[in-house]
Amino acid sequence: MEKSEWEIAWSDCLSVGVAEMDEEHRQFISRVNDLNKSIIGSEDKATVERMMDLMLMEATHHFRHEQELLARWKYPDTAAHTTTHAQLAAQFARVMKEIEESDISFVWALKGLRLKQLLVEHLLKEDMKYRDFLREQTGHAGQ
Ligand SMILES: [Fe+2]
Ligand SMILES: [Fe+2]
Repeated sequence: MEKSEWEIAWSDCLSVGVAEMDEEHRQFISRVNDLNKSIIGSEDKATVERMMDLMLMEATHHFRHEQELLARWKYPDTAAHTTTHAQLAAQFARVMKEIEESDISFVWALKGLRLKQLLVEHLLKEDMKYRDFLREQTGHAGQ
């Protein structure tokens, strides 16, 4: 199948240099891709909602796990990062509720893209900050 603009591909530039975090990010991206695929494939609403629930559950788990690691590494912006996770989780929940309340698949598609945008923005803007912090700590670039 041809790669569509709806799909985010994992690439090394998304790596934070921590295997367990990269793994969860990769998994998360594939969940968002699956969700968007089910939306553009015009799956029924129950399927779309099941995928959203799964994504939200995994996001919550990932955020908690990441926060634990940040605290363990004594990352100075752990509190601020935790706040952005809470905001992101609230935004996810809001977008998902909007999807639930709508019966128009066109709206779902826009919302699905919005979820993806929020996710990628957090990864590129916030998670990359701790990658840089860890690099400085170890004094070399990458793992
Ligand atoms: Fe994060
Ligand atoms: Fe993350």
